[in-house]
Amino acid sequence: MTAAAPLRATAPARVATSRRYVLCRPDHFEVAYAINPWMDPATPVDRPRALAQWEILRAVLEDHGHSVETVPCEPGLPDMVFAANSGIVIGGHALSARFAHPERAAEGPAFHRWFAARELRSLAPASETNEGEGDFAFAGHRILAGVGFRCSLSAHAEVERYFDLPVVSLELVDPRFYHLDTALMVLDDTTIAYYPAAFSPAARDVLTTLYPDAILADENDALSFGLNGVSDGHHVFLDPGATNLIAALRARGFAPIPVDMSELRKGGGGVKCCVLELHTRRDTPPPHSPA
Ligand code: ARG
Repeated sequence: MTAAAPLRATAPARVATSRRYVLCRPDHFEVAYAINPWMDPATPVDRPRALAQWEILRAVLEDHGHSVETVPCEPGLPDMVFAANSGIVIGGHALSARFAHPERAAEGPAFHRWFAARELRSLAPASETNEGEGDFAFAGHRILAGVGFRCSLSAHAEVERYFDLPVVSLELVDPRFYHLDTALMVLDDTTIAYYPAAFSPAARDVLTTLYPDAILADENDALSFGLNGVSDGHHVFLDPGATNLIAALRARGFAPIPVDMSELRKGGGGVKCCVLELHTRRDTPPPHSPA
């Protein structure tokens, strides 16, 4: 007699695709001012340690088959290492950032000059306050966007027009999670992870409707900056402190790759903050996706 195979939920096979990333070496990183609750200018920064962590991040991304370009960082712009804030690039179209705080204002034109020297189909500076991938997460057939701390709904409207993609506005309510990429991570075109308490009740309803199967992170995962990770569809590069999130990713067939960015966290950033992706546009909505 043959015993029936035990019923076991199987995680889908995840497929990595090679990505193009843009990073900026933290040669001038320091915490000289405080524009988010993580920053304390009285806490010393160990720049060699920040540089060493960043070099590991770069090497790990390259070792997993991704291309990494670097933007020269400029003196006097200590937050320039957080390249995710430099703009949004999808399918060769780029919108460069306009920063909320005067301390970071010059990063917008600095990154814009770098974009202008690339082969892009279009490039424009944002006319609304817009900190790039900090608040805008490309999710295949839509863009998820944070609102509440750094940008407004008019920035969402500008992004929707520029990229001709629907933008889903999500209100952030906890100042520790001041950018969308501190509270939500896109894992692939249909899968996300997020920390519900960082969002308003209305935003949580939207997320539950659009992503009923999302991975929910807990407070420790979020405070460890685990959601500030980067996914290539299979590997997820994220902080090792996000232990429950790491277990949940594994259970869903992803391969978590721990990358310690604790020195950069003194500036309020983690893995994702340091990585801008030049996204290839994928236009076909996945089957059965909500509008
Ligand atoms: N100190 C920077 C700021 O407050 C950190 C930016 C982090 N970047 C990010 N993509 N969340 O603007």
